[in-house]
Amino acid sequence: MRNDHVSIVEVGPRDGLQNEKTIIASEDKIKLVNLLSDCGFDTIEVTSFVSPKWVPQLADASVVMSGISRHPRISYAVLTPNLKGYTQAKESNASEVAIFAAASETFSQNNINCSIDESLVRFGRVMDAARVDQVPVRGYISCVVDCPYEGKVLPSAVCSVATRLLDMGCYEISLGDTTGNGTPQSIGTMLDCVIEHISVDKLAGHYHDTNHRTLENIDISLEKGLRRFDSSIGGIGGCPYAPGARGNVATSDVVRFLHDKNISTGIDLDKLSLALQFVHSLFEQNSAN
Ligand code: HMG
Ligand code: MG
Repeated sequence: MRNDHVSIVEVGPRDGLQNEKTIIASEDKIKLVNLLSDCGFDTIEVTSFVSPKWVPQLADASVVMSGISRHPRISYAVLTPNLKGYTQAKESNASEVAIFAAASETFSQNNINCSIDESLVRFGRVMDAARVDQVPVRGYISCVVDCPYEGKVLPSAVCSVATRLLDMGCYEISLGDTTGNGTPQSIGTMLDCVIEHISVDKLAGHYHDTNHRTLENIDISLEKGLRRFDSSIGGIGGCPYAPGARGNVATSDVVRFLHDKNISTGIDLDKLSLALQFVHSLFEQNSAN
């Protein structure tokens, strides 16, 4: 395969822990990020500066950001839904921030309490501040093929939001199969439409594993030319506003899948297994409590 390197964005500490019923102690979140920092990722999504009323699991975002040991090579990313979140992210020295829009109106309302158009106005304010501070901004789009409230989502809706986010200055768009109902057919059709308008090197795949089809979805995305994917250590997580959705593709699964295809990732599977053991011990502890 040409371009035989894929970059993995580890989103477990954010996408994974945001959806856990029990609250994980800040020191354990910090330990997890530190273990992940040894594995070879170039980007780790650490937490979110969102309303603690909406996502209480990540209310300790500042504590976690100030507690982690940073490797100069790694970008420590956080989610910011508005200027308030951005200001806190900046104070916490986030290396980059992510704004998160949706291709479905109902999901947008449920997730961030506003329409898609309103969200883009809010994100515009984040972009303006980030531009001044020279903080890179990644853009997420949720529900790229399927919405938990509206069902099937049209590729043209994804393409429209992606174009607007890139025009605003996002350096990359992460395409979220939020429900995990995507198939190689629906993901492939969506990508064909988006790639007509947007260069493939600006796109990443963020696929949830509800129906255990993420590796097939990554495979078709590789065929279409994508070389960046999000994954979650141990496959933990989901979105609190996408009921029933499972976590992202498990990091070790996607790394093995790519290495088997002779595609490099830079990820050290032995070090990853230490982080994985720690995640398992966290959930064993919590289910025993
Ligand atoms: P709202 O209630 O409309 O906000 O929520 P508001 O501006 O009216 O403010 C209400 C209260 O929230 C105020 O506090 C604000 O100060 C506070 P009060 O006066 O009531 O005490 N507030 C904040 N506090 C801390 N940090 C902030 C912040 N903003 C306002 N940044 C809001 C709107 C966007 C804040 C809310 O809906 C929210 O936080 N939503 C986040 C939901 C979320 O995190 N979802 C999961 C992440 S997205 C995801 O998982 C999908 C993804 O993985 C891709 C995929 O899989 O598809 C990315
Ligand atoms: Mg997600």
